[in-house]
Amino acid sequence: MSLLSDARNILSKDPAARSLVEVVLLYPGFKILVYHRIAHWLYQRRRFFLARWVSQRGRRKTGIEIHPGAKIGSGLFIDHGMGIVIGETTEIGDNCTIYHQVTLGGTGKDTGKRHPTIGDNVLIGAGASVLGPVLIGSNTRIAAGSVVLTCLPERVTAAGVPAHIVSVDGERVHPSDDLDQRNIPDLLARRLREIDSRLQALEGDKTDSEQ
Ligand SMILES: CC(C)(COP(=O)(O)OP(=O)(O)OC[C@H]1O[C@@H](n2cnc3c(N)ncnc32)[C@H](O)[C@@H]1OP(=O)(O)O)[C@@H](O)C(=O)NCCC(=O)NCCS
Repeated sequence: MSLLSDARNILSKDPAARSLVEVVLLYPGFKILVYHRIAHWLYQRRRFFLARWVSQRGRRKTGIEIHPGAKIGSGLFIDHGMGIVIGETTEIGDNCTIYHQVTLGGTGKDTGKRHPTIGDNVLIGAGASVLGPVLIGSNTRIAAGSVVLTCLPERVTAAGVPAHIVSVDGERVHPSDDLDQRNIPDLLARRLREIDSRLQALEGDKTDSEQ
């Protein structure tokens, strides 16, 4: 994705943004993407000191610290910036939104891959922390101020400290519901299984009528 697309993406997602020029010149969420692209390019070529230097310059200008090693997909919208920390082994998918004071960090207990992996279209609310090498499924929303310490499946909303799933696919989960928070079923896989069994039933009907 080009820098122009990054700027257009921010303009389309922020109702407060008035023009492309405003985004390019004044938005920390745009500036840090420019710095990170350069820093990540240097990091991939093992120019670690230079990469760090670029990312630290970006941090001074925007208040957003993204380690040069972090892998970031296209269409990331960082709103407001300031106080955001994204660790070295973090991976972020496409079209995610991150508000101010979000930490995608380590717990201090893991080595190697020690930061989160975030799917596509994930929203991480202001002040939320996602800690450790956890997986956050696509289209999931993390409420402002939450602390996420475990993996989250696709299409859920999680809130609280530590975060718990409060809704699945837009449907509210109540504390009395018997939901296994750690082994919540994969909804997409469940739908595919349903479609698969209906297809098999239809094929069975077709074979019966042919005989
Ligand atoms: C989580 C969020 C995305 C809403 O998602 P949602 O699926 O529509 O959730 P709902 O609003 O239906 O709330 C579901 C439950 O979670 C609770 N909840 C929502 N946000 C919460 C939060 N930040 N912390 C704790 N609980 C929260 C609600 O109170 C509700 O519980 P209740 O029914 O017992 O009252 C939204 O609340 C949020 O936090 N967005 C982040 C926005 C942000 O950071 N803005 C900064 C702009 S500068």
